[in-house]
Amino acid sequence: MRTEKGNTDMSTTTAPAIRVQGIQKSYKELHVLRGVDFEVAPGSIFALLGSNGAGKTTMIRILSTLLKQDAGTAVVAGSDVATDAFSVREAISLTGQFAAVDEILSGKENLVLVAKLRHLKNTDQIADDLLARFSLTEAGSRKVATYSGGMRRRLDIAMSLIGQPKVLFLDEPTTGLDPEARIEVWQVIKELATQGTTVLLTTQYLDEAEQLADRIAILHQGRIIANGTLGELKQLLPPATVEYVEKQPTLEEIFLALVGTGSKNNELSEDLS
Ligand SMILES: Nc1ncnc2c1ncn2[C@@H]1O[C@H](COP(=O)(O)OP(=O)(O)O)[C@@H](O)[C@H]1O
Ligand SMILES: [Mg+2]
Repeated sequence: MRTEKGNTDMSTTTAPAIRVQGIQKSYKELHVLRGVDFEVAPGSIFALLGSNGAGKTTMIRILSTLLKQDAGTAVVAGSDVATDAFSVREAISLTGQFAAVDEILSGKENLVLVAKLRHLKNTDQIADDLLARFSLTEAGSRKVATYSGGMRRRLDIAMSLIGQPKVLFLDEPTTGLDPEARIEVWQVIKELATQGTTVLLTTQYLDEAEQLADRIAILHQGRIIANGTLGELKQLLPPATVEYVEKQPTLEEIFLALVGTGSKNNELSEDLS
């Protein structure tokens, strides 16, 4: 059953859609996750923000049962990823950083293929509904090879919704997209959460987290060093000084203050890429 939308209030009795406690993961000597804790409320959008190499994909792979953690527990949609991977897989969907669509097929054929793989009936109807929902009806019969980056990513997300997952993992959903395509994808993600899907996305883009997320957690050196709404994160910085009376801190400034680099704006894209 879909849950109530946009509920980010952790004080309610609603069980979190995702609960991560003390997760650790090393690749040989490299201790990537050093005790990660966070919770995601049902129907909310949660952004895991971190620089390249921070461990975001590692965390998503653990939550989607593709990788086993070394220590700690993670519960997704009520099931433990380590002991009940099957139930977790039934409740989730994962869209990776690179679009997993088949170029040779049309958009509609891609959707029908996935619906058939999931043993669903009415595959034609399912495909048409998703094409309409993602504004791809007109392009539906065209080969994906002719699609723009934004259209491909929308189709990719549409494919991941077949079977109605409760929890959707999006690993860097807009990396490599142009600004217009990013906004299209943001729109789609916002709509999903409004309809009750819980979304955990990773991003290295501060503005993406700022635009989309109900809550933002910053993953740095293996731990969550900040977790809250944008408003809460803004309170982590000292209040604006006299010279900056009109200026609220941006997430970028908060991020840089927390991770302790002295980078200026123009170096940020390099730091995070
Ligand atoms: N299979 C692997 N074997 C060894 N090292 C890995 C493996 N996967 C990732 N890493 C390393 O772990 C760190 C975190 O990677 P990752 O989770 O992909 O970070 P992010 O998604 O935040 O960029 C990086 O230093 C990466 O090189
Ligand atoms: Mg990654």
